[in-house]
Amino acid sequence: MPMLRRRTFLQGSVALGGAFALGASVAAKTGATPDPQILTAQFTDAQIAADGVTPKVMTYGLGERTHTGLPPVLRMRKGEAYAARLFNRLDEPTTVHWHGLRIPNAMDGVPEMTQPYVYPGDHFDYVFTPPDAGTFWYHPHCNTLTQVGSGLTGVIVVENPEDPAFDAEIVLNLRDWRLGAGGKFIDSFKPRDAARGGTYGTVRTANWQREPVYDVPAGGLVRVRIAATDVTRIYTIGLAGAPATVIALDGNAVDAPFPLDRLEVGPGQRVDLAIRMPESEGERATLGNFRGSSPWTIAALRAVGTSLKRDLRDIVALPTNPVAEADLSAAKRIPIDLTATAEHKATPSICGSLGYTFWAINKTPWPGDTSDPVAPIEELKLGGSYVLEIANRTPHAHPIHLHGLSFRILASNKRSFLPPPTDTILLLPDEQAEVALVADNPGDWVIHCHIIEHQKTGMTAYFRIV
Ligand code: C2O
Ligand code: CU
Repeated sequence: MPMLRRRTFLQGSVALGGAFALGASVAAKTGATPDPQILTAQFTDAQIAADGVTPKVMTYGLGERTHTGLPPVLRMRKGEAYAARLFNRLDEPTTVHWHGLRIPNAMDGVPEMTQPYVYPGDHFDYVFTPPDAGTFWYHPHCNTLTQVGSGLTGVIVVENPEDPAFDAEIVLNLRDWRLGAGGKFIDSFKPRDAARGGTYGTVRTANWQREPVYDVPAGGLVRVRIAATDVTRIYTIGLAGAPATVIALDGNAVDAPFPLDRLEVGPGQRVDLAIRMPESEGERATLGNFRGSSPWTIAALRAVGTSLKRDLRDIVALPTNPVAEADLSAAKRIPIDLTATAEHKATPSICGSLGYTFWAINKTPWPGDTSDPVAPIEELKLGGSYVLEIANRTPHAHPIHLHGLSFRILASNKRSFLPPPTDTILLLPDEQAEVALVADNPGDWVIHCHIIEHQKTGMTAYFRIV
């Protein structure tokens, strides 16, 4: 593929303050349950669009004081207990789902299925030990199109003391906003788009900023953790102005780091890059989106100081996470068909309904969050190996996310590169993929499209592991 021309998307970048983001980790005590981090879901105003302050943005703050700006990056340690107390200062019920973390079912944040609604003024305690290191994220699982669309997406970094050291680390939370004149929110979706690829935002941001620029050491090695938290957008990312290698995908180390060319990243997915910054002060490495006909800038890194003269070839593979390998000779095979379905009205729910059904998994459209859901796709035996034969029988891409478990992509009719274990597979139009997993986490685990309009209009189901 052709290298991108820098000229095409360097315009309009705004220099912002330095962001050497290393070392902000929260010290956790080994063994004992730590004091909970207070996570307060609340409203704020935010300058997101160029032409006005957006009222009624939703965010999380640490502590009980008022918070402005995007939800904090939550730092945890692999294998160490973490606790958070969610306070709800919104005007509707909410929950927190820890996307990609393989934690106990009761901590998974799915209302009705794994925990009660957290009503305004109430709180809920989450306590768990992340088994895997990497880049993950957190978001509500209630009225999700509105709450996620209004701002409630934050990045989680699970640190591993065995990770290689970098000269700087930048965390990027990529998402769009549906804003109209003066920065006011407009309708969160259009039904005709929900029945297709999903409704796009009107303002594109990284860390709630349009084309932010971060200062990092010249000639240094920078770890960039990218989380695609938008409700709709699939990115095709690429970097201009500096070489980069891909070191992890969806929180899991790649077997061998490989050069970044173009990478498709769907809603819910993450990418960890190692970037070797240019030598001279002021030079930039620019992250762009190359999907569609006109590439645009996501964010840029600006080299500062005298060159550290680091070498990208010094980057070694990250340690792998302890994801069990399925026993393919014994694995039971389960077909999962993603289809469109005859449009009909959806049932109302405490966590919001979009009012339509357009999609189905194995011919069954999800009825919404209810105390009386449909039957599980299948009851899996705890410890058993399974192969899911996922068939996308639609002309649209679907990032399919499974809670509580990681799976390995074994084969696909649409791809040659098979990524490391993941929690979210971006199924291309008409793709058929086989993925393998060990059912090693008991409970009810939802599987759904992470284009939230699809999730909320039928493309959701669940497994029961007993
Ligand atoms: Cu990131 Cu069920 O979600
Ligand atoms: Cu979808």
